Formats: sequence, C-alpha cells, structure tokens
Amino acid sequence: MSIGLFRALENNGGIVEVVVNYLKDNFENYLEELKSYLRIPSISALASHKDQMLKCADFAAEKLKDAGMTRIEIFPTAGHPIVFAEWMGKPGKPTVLIYGHYDVQPIDPLNLWKDPPFEPVIRDGKIFARGANDNKGQHFVHIKSVEAFFKTLGELPLNVKFILEGEEEIGSENLVKFLKTQQDLLKCDAVLISDTSMYAKGIPTITYGLRGLLYMEVEVVGPDRDLHSGSFGGAVANPINELAKIISKLHDKNGKVAVPNFYKNVLKLSKKEKDNFTRFKLSDKEYAKEIGVKELQGEKGFSTLERLWTRPTLDCNGIIGGFIEEGAKTVLPSKATAKISMRLIPDQDPVKLAKEVKKYIHSIAPKSVKVDVRTLHYGNGVVIPLESKAINAGAKAVSKAFGKKTFFTREGGSIPVVVDFVKQLKAPAVLMGLGLDSDNIHSPNEHFLLENFEKGLYASVYFLDEFSNS
Ligand code: BES
Ligand code: MN
Repeated sequence: MSIGLFRALENNGGIVEVVVNYLKDNFENYLEELKSYLRIPSISALASHKDQMLKCADFAAEKLKDAGMTRIEIFPTAGHPIVFAEWMGKPGKPTVLIYGHYDVQPIDPLNLWKDPPFEPVIRDGKIFARGANDNKGQHFVHIKSVEAFFKTLGELPLNVKFILEGEEEIGSENLVKFLKTQQDLLKCDAVLISDTSMYAKGIPTITYGLRGLLYMEVEVVGPDRDLHSGSFGGAVANPINELAKIISKLHDKNGKVAVPNFYKNVLKLSKKEKDNFTRFKLSDKEYAKEIGVKELQGEKGFSTLERLWTRPTLDCNGIIGGFIEEGAKTVLPSKATAKISMRLIPDQDPVKLAKEVKKYIHSIAPKSVKVDVRTLHYGNGVVIPLESKAINAGAKAVSKAFGKKTFFTREGGSIPVVVDFVKQLKAPAVLMGLGLDSDNIHSPNEHFLLENFEKGLYASVYFLDEFSNS
C-alpha cells in the first residue's frame, strides 16, 4: 500500500472512503463518458437500429474492460447481443451479478423534446437524454464503482459479474433463453440491479416486488377495403366502432378486469405489507396533481399504492385505424387494431391468461367482423423475500449513501428477467433503484438526477464492500 493511500485511509476513516473519494474526484469525467454512451441511439424496438445496437454493445464491453473487468464476452442472440464480463479474483468471497440493459425506448413524440434525445445536455442538476435513467445512467454507476475499486485498491472486495442485455424494453426473450443454458456462467450469490425508482427524491429505496406483463394486440377486420362512409355507413360494421365496444367491455363498473379467471391466482397482500404501505402516507390529491389529473381512479376497494404495486391491471397502449391525418375524410375503415397490455401479479400465469383473454374477446365480438387476438410478449411478476444478507447489504448501502432510513417498496413496472434470475440462479435480487417517477422514462425529456448518479456511485461501493463481508 502506498504512503498516499495510508494517508487517505487515516484521514477518511475507512478503506471504502478511498474509493468514494476517487469517485468524487472523477465525477466530471464519468459524466462525459455517460454522455458518449447516451449518444448511441440503441432503440431495441426498431429494426432500422440494429447496427446501433451492436455499436452500443461494443461500447459497453469496452467500458467494462477499461473498468478492470476480465473475460469480456459479447454473446450474439437471435435478437440483440448480450454483454458479459467477470472478475473472479476473490475465491471464497461471494459473487455478485450486476444486471442492466443498454437498450432504450423509442423517442416519439419527437416534437415534445426540448433537446434532441441523443444529444445529452445538463440542466437544473439533471442529465437529459433517452436512456439517461432507463437504463444507461443507472447501470453505468456500477461500472464506475468497480473501476474506482481497481484504480484505488487494485482489486474488488468480492467476485463480480456483469450482464448487460439489449432487449429489456422488448421483453427480454433472448436473455431468458440464454439464462436457461448458462446457469454456470451466471452462477452468483446475489443479483444487483438499478433499474427502478426511489420512493421519492432523497429517500433511499430497495424494491422487493415487480409486476409482470402480458402484451397483446387485437385486430378487428371488417370490409376487405376502406369504404365511403356515406355509401356504406349504416349497413356495414365499422371495425373502429366494434373495437371500441370490445375495449369498453374489458372492465366492469368497479374497475375490475372483466376477463374470466383474471384474478384467480393473484397473491394476496399480507397484513404486514398493508401496514407498511399505510406508513408511506401517499396523498391521492398530490399524486393526482403531479400527473395533471383532477382525480385518481382504479379498482374499487384498494388504495393507490395497493393498486399500483399489488393488483393486476389492463390498459390500452395504442389504437390504430381509419383516417388520422389533418382535416376530415369520410371513410369507413377496413380494419382497426388496439395494443393492450396487462400488468400481472404473482402467481398469475401469462400463458394461461393470454388464452383467457383471447377466448373472452372472441366471445364478445360480433359476427360482422373478423377478430384476431395475438400475444407480443410476456413476463412474470416477482416478490422477493426481504430476509437475506444481500437485501440487508443493499438497504445499508443506500441508507449510507443518501443519509436516511431505507424504504422498502414494490413497483408497478416490470423487469421481465428478474423472476428468472431469482428462480433459476436461486439468488436474491437487490433492486437498488436510483431513478425517480418524475424522470420521464419512456416519455419525452427523460432525465436522471445528477445527485442520484453521484450518490448511486457511493451506494454501489458501499454495497460491494458490505456484501463482501457476508
Ligand atoms: N426500468 C423499467 C422498469 C420500471 C418502470 C421500473 C417504472 C420502475 C418504474 C424497465 O426498463 C421497463 O420499462 N420495463 C418495461 C418492460 C416491458 C417492456 C417488458 C415495462 O415495465 O414496461
Ligand atoms: Mn424501460
């Protein structure tokens, strides 16, 4: 150990503070590197961006190598590649698998962005760009904390693996397949993931539940071509009208999803969890104000947090059909399509549910139109037991970094692969979210709080240190 390092230790009272100080000194550089990462338009949903996905995977692999990781591998898949790295220099110590995704959501509607989505800018203590929060900014934190360990102490306190995928935003199908055949490669004692939100600004949060997702499409076809709505209207079923009728029958008057057997296997909320939620004191009024609605609505008999975190839902995500350009055109369209997704709670089975939805929609559709119901992708929800060394280490780490007591939350969003990590690798997942619900993920002007980027770096260091001692 160098004399300089000894002094640093003396002055700061602990070995990890040396790492943290190194991160403080290099914060501006890391921000610049993150900007380069954000400049790559890695939109997984668009076939036209395939080359950008490859470029982004290369960039991530390069950063892992520069950080000091070894055995860097880019695994091709039927879709976008998976980036893997490991450093196994501490036999006898635990192994952490750090997961993130380098793919981002599409950017539409582009006209609502204040700055171009792939030209990152810093304003008001935030970095703005598509992917700034979800998820490049959040997982970049862990790459840099690992780098700081190597640069200061020359090693990590435990074994670390990274897995970065390029298909999270489109359902993680290929990573789930990869996991089935690569359990040895990914073997670990805990999975660390920063891809969720903190309960509120400044509140250190560990999330222990995610909803699953079932994404479907309903296509209603009427006449074999668009028709003049005057010549034919009134005598022929209009696919948009019929689709609207179908959609209106997907919920009952109490806000429950009307598909038979939809709630059959929904995990009930324990008394302990219910009490924990009421302690959060979420104000419906403030929540409504924040998103610009007059009042909230949802399934009768449940609080807002219960609805968001513990109840399944069904929402239309988009409708396509008829004339949507400027002005008027009198047309009776040939077809109409709705994109419909359902958020799921353990132990709802997406495959069985898809069949129920299909059956129900066919049962309410009139004979005058042809209806096709198809599944785009699906994933299970998960609830992670709170009693584990990894969760304890995570809670301690964020609490130390943010200087407050840690909140334990569930989350309405989904990260499809988490349930597979937990079940197949038999390792707890620590969801150490650094985002905020107000960061506009999946929306124009996505951003990430610089304060969370910075404190996230420290939390990562504290976690690796803390978990290495368990
Ligand atoms: N980071 C999100 C998950 C998330 C959303 C966490 C909101 C916290 C708050 C993730 O990237 C995501 O968007 N997941 C998709 C998954 C889907 C496309 C399979 C989601 O939840 O819609
Ligand atoms: Mn996302």
